Amino acid sequence: MVAVGKMGSRLAVLLVIICQLTTLLDAKYPVVLVPGDGGSQFLAKLNKTTGPHEFCRQKTAEYFNLWLNLEELAPYVIDCFVDNMKLHYNATTHTTSNTPGVDIVIPGFGNTSSVEWLDADYFLHISSTSYFAPIVEALVKWGYKRGESVRGAPYDFRKAPNEFGPFYNNLTNLIEDTFVRNNNTKVVLLAHSMGNPTTLYYLNHRPQVWKDKYIHSFITISGVWGGAVKPLRLFSAGDNLNVPFVEGINVREEQRSMPSSAFLMPSENFWSANEVLVSQPKRNYTVKDYKAFFTDLGIPDAYLMRQDTENLVKDLTPPGVEIHCLHGINMPTPLQFQFGEGMWPDTQPKVVTGNGDGTVNIRSLLGCLSWQGKQKQKVYHQTFPKAEHTEILSNKDVIAYIKTVVNS
Ligand SMILES: *[C@@H]1O[C@H](CO)[C@@H](O)[C@H](O)[C@H]1NC(C)=O
Ligand SMILES: *[C@@H]1O[C@H](CO)[C@@H](O)[C@H](O)[C@H]1NC(C)=O
Ligand SMILES: *[C@@H]1O[C@H](CO)[C@@H](O)[C@H](O)[C@H]1NC(C)=O
Ligand SMILES: *[C@@H]1O[C@H](CO)[C@@H](O)[C@H](O)[C@H]1NC(C)=O
Ligand SMILES: *[C@@H]1O[C@H](CO)[C@@H](O)[C@H](O)[C@H]1NC(C)=O
Ligand SMILES: *[C@@H]1O[C@H](CO)[C@@H](O)[C@H](O)[C@H]1NC(C)=O
Repeated sequence: MVAVGKMGSRLAVLLVIICQLTTLLDAKYPVVLVPGDGGSQFLAKLNKTTGPHEFCRQKTAEYFNLWLNLEELAPYVIDCFVDNMKLHYNATTHTTSNTPGVDIVIPGFGNTSSVEWLDADYFLHISSTSYFAPIVEALVKWGYKRGESVRGAPYDFRKAPNEFGPFYNNLTNLIEDTFVRNNNTKVVLLAHSMGNPTTLYYLNHRPQVWKDKYIHSFITISGVWGGAVKPLRLFSAGDNLNVPFVEGINVREEQRSMPSSAFLMPSENFWSANEVLVSQPKRNYTVKDYKAFFTDLGIPDAYLMRQDTENLVKDLTPPGVEIHCLHGINMPTPLQFQFGEGMWPDTQPKVVTGNGDGTVNIRSLLGCLSWQGKQKQKVYHQTFPKAEHTEILSNKDVIAYIKTVVNS
């Protein structure tokens, strides 16, 4: 009996060693995931004195799921959500803060839990809230370990890089810690959507020696390099972002309050002054008319937020790391919003579409090509026909591509 037990435990030790070896062989470069707009969970705790309705909770003993929680988006209740989620801009400090009495935390920094699925109820996962899950599941199948060799860097996606100082400090610690935990192995950064300009700004402010030491490469998926037309709807009619039962106008106040909406507007370097982005009976708005756009909407603070954020990555300074730029093409993507008689700005506009990934216009997705020949590190580029902006995260060809990078 004893001998068998000993053999059993030796076998177990051997198995553990084999597993560890396979893990090391398979999981070559550790991965840090940087989500996009809407791609991090938020928990909130309330100690408010007022609210939009009597039935809105004003005090909670515990943190609850604010984002993403479909119950919070139910009709009427959504007004409570908007009040808890919106930001308040201070035009003196050019910074934003939560509604008084709302405490928000972004859970799971360093782990993948809060970026794999957007709803925090693990047993209720509905596929529409799957985010980085397919990529993380693939990495785990190849030998990666959650929280060790694949890690998440969630952040307050309502804001823009001008307010990300504390997040960027955390990101530096996370990358260095991941490097050390994985036997001093360089890290692959993998970002989606707004996570890409967010990471670009970060890399633009890191010393080259640091990047050479810690970063293997940067996989950019659906990168919003030059903005997109779609955010202009957030400010005008509001956008239900395809959530059933939600009306754009009911979430507009929250969307208008987010510096990230302003950060992601079309850039002057990608759109010309003769392209109409939004039209309404009284006038047209181009990339040169943002001041009038916000004045006419009666939200002057949003113009200040645009000014605070428009130059952060405008010049697309090369990131100074190897790039794998992946994105979809050939999906109808908003190119112009047309408000007819009596529609401006509260009625959903007619949408004229052009090429892109369904959310980001093709010219912006291709922004990464501007680095070819401008940095010594390579810039690889691959398009995935009909891969939609977010669905691309579960695209088999994209996951196969990621494998070639992390195992190279
Ligand atoms: C809630 O806010 C009030 C001030 O409005 C404060 O006096 C009280 O200590 C707060 N309660 C908690 C639990 O933070
Ligand atoms: C904005 O910030 C300034 C400086 O911290 C402060 O004095 C002022 O009260 C703030 N304004 C509002 C509306 O909170
Ligand atoms: C990371 O998340 C996983 C679930 O995805 C959980 O089992 C694990 O305990 C978490 N680790 C840490 C350190 O939070
Ligand atoms: C930074 O990390 C600390 C400790 O993990 C965490 O409490 C804090 O919320 C993080 N802040 C940001 C902005 O990521
Ligand atoms: C760690 O890396 C060094 C060289 O980079 C290598 O010699 C060593 O075997 C590695 N250790 C493990 C446990 O993989
Ligand atoms: C807006 O632009 C269109 C051309 O795109 C033009 O036909 C129309 O007259 C313009 N409307 C206004 C109010 O300037």
